[in-house]
Amino acid sequence: MFSIFKKKKAIENIEIRVAKDEDYADVVPVAEYFKNETGVTFEKQISILKNKVTAFCRRRGIKSFLELLHNVKHDNELKQELIDTLTTNETFFYREFKQIEELVKLVKKTDKKVDILCAPSATGEEPYSIVIALLESDIPQHSFHIVGIDINQDALDKAEKALFKERNVRNLSSLLIDKYFQKDGEKFILKDIIKSHVTFKLTNLFDSSFKNIGKFDFIFSRNMLIYFDKETKLKAKEILESMRKNPNQEIFFGHADLF
Ligand SMILES: C[S@@+](CC[C@H](N)C(=O)[O-])C[C@H]1O[C@@H](n2cnc3c(N)ncnc32)[C@H](O)[C@@H]1O
Repeated sequence: MFSIFKKKKAIENIEIRVAKDEDYADVVPVAEYFKNETGVTFEKQISILKNKVTAFCRRRGIKSFLELLHNVKHDNELKQELIDTLTTNETFFYREFKQIEELVKLVKKTDKKVDILCAPSATGEEPYSIVIALLESDIPQHSFHIVGIDINQDALDKAEKALFKERNVRNLSSLLIDKYFQKDGEKFILKDIIKSHVTFKLTNLFDSSFKNIGKFDFIFSRNMLIYFDKETKLKAKEILESMRKNPNQEIFFGHADLF
C-alpha cells in the first residue's frame, strides 16, 4: 500500500516537473530566426506568433523555444514543418486580374516563347490563372511556360494536386469552370491541359540557389512582400530584378506590396 502511494507520488512529481520545464515565455528569438531564414516578420504580431509556436512545440513534445531553435538548426524536416506552419498561403483564381490581362497583352506582342515566374505561387491559383487567361486569348499552347516557386512545401503539394474548393474558384465564370475543371463532389479538379504548363519548385527567395532557376521574360511577385519589413522588401525586389531577361520589364507586384 505504502509503495503504491510512493509510486503515485513519484509519477505526479514527474508530471509537475515536465509542466514546469516548459519554457514558452520569450518568442522573440524565434521571430528573429524566422525572419533571418524567410524574410517574414512577426514584429507587429508577436502574440499570434507565440500562440502558433507554442502549439507547434507542444504537438511535437518540444519543451522550450530554445530547444526548438536548437532542433530546427539540425533537423531540416522540422525546419520545413515550422515554415509550413508559419507562412500564410491565402490565394485564389483571377486575383487582381487586371495585371494578368496586362500580361496577356504583353505576351501577345511577342512571337517567341516566353518564360514566366510566379514567386511565390502558394497553392497554384496564380500561375494556373495565368495559363487559363493566356489560352483564353488564343496564345498558342507551346509558346509559354511558367515556374511557380514557394517556400511552403504543403502549399506546393496542393498546387501539384490541383484540387480546389469553391471559394478558390469564386472569381471564375461558370463557363471557365466547366471548361477547365472536373467537378468531384465539393472539389474542383483542374484539367491536365492547364497543369502541364506549370512547374513548381520548393525554393526560398533568399537562398542563393534561387537565382539558378534562370531568367524570365515576366515575373509575378504578389502578396509576399506584405510579410516583409521595408529593408527585406528592397532586398527581395533587387533579387527579382536580377532575374529579368529584359531589365526594362517591370515586375508585377501586388497592390498591397508597397515599398
Ligand atoms: C499570400 S501568398 C501569395 C500567393 C499569390 N502570389 C497571390 O498573390 O495570391 C504568400 C506566399 O509567400 C510565400 N513566401 C513567404 N516567404 C517566402 C520566401 N522567402 N521565399 C519564397 N516564398 C515565400 C509563402 O509561403 C506564401 O505561400
